Amino acid sequence: MNAIDLGAGTAFLGRNALFFDELDSTNGWCKRNDLPHGTAVLAASQTSGRGRMGQSWSDSPGKSLSFSLVLRDWPANRLAALPLACCIGVLRALTAECGPGFAVKWSNDLLHGEKKVCGILCESVLSGGSATVVIGIGVNLTRTEQEFKSLGLVYAASLESATGKKIDGRELAAAICRELEPVLIKFQEFGFLELREEYRRSCLTLGKEVRVIQNGRELAGLAVDIGGDGGLICEIGGERVIIHAGEASVRGLYGYV
Ligand code: BTN
Repeated sequence: MNAIDLGAGTAFLGRNALFFDELDSTNGWCKRNDLPHGTAVLAASQTSGRGRMGQSWSDSPGKSLSFSLVLRDWPANRLAALPLACCIGVLRALTAECGPGFAVKWSNDLLHGEKKVCGILCESVLSGGSATVVIGIGVNLTRTEQEFKSLGLVYAASLESATGKKIDGRELAAAICRELEPVLIKFQEFGFLELREEYRRSCLTLGKEVRVIQNGRELAGLAVDIGGDGGLICEIGGERVIIHAGEASVRGLYGYV
């Protein structure tokens, strides 16, 4: 393990940074260790990268950015929409580094065109009214279309395959820290309502037919808006239903779950 200087120029996010050649999961390591607020943990490869909804996350050494950020004493009432707030910061960083063309698929997948380039997994441990949070961010940097195909990941792309840009992982981690820090400060102080308009503008799911899988039942509807707490408001069978991240998967947008 090496302490590294990301050079992000931030007040707290990524000021402490640790780099590992290999970890099981950067999120898992952060959860097992007592790390200061804002610490970034990067790994060149993960042997058991974790994705949302109990799925695994596949990365390959040198071809992906896998890192986690630790937030301490994070208010418990600012957890539900945190992954959506993170999307805004990461989207800003991807746009700054690679140019336009990125969008969000509700709740917290980042796409370029029709393909997923980045996933975010927020995990938290509550203690009283506050939590220790680990924000895990995985970005595909340089894998080719062929590599994704052979892995059966037909709806995935890398920054290079999607935009032609070869992006350095540490520079991107620094850019994410720089863009995400002010978003987190605003979100902590004012909540998601202050960020909702930017999220709406970036969200490809809105206006699309969706199939919501909730408690094993599949319901068809139309995604119409984002709620004040980050829920997806859908019209299903003539009624407005709010779907919360983690409670349901939304299919129907490019077939990607
Ligand atoms: C998703 O399912 O879309 C979320 C993927 C999150 C992957 C990142 S890679 C760094 C961090 N460590 C993990 O084990 N997972 C997250």
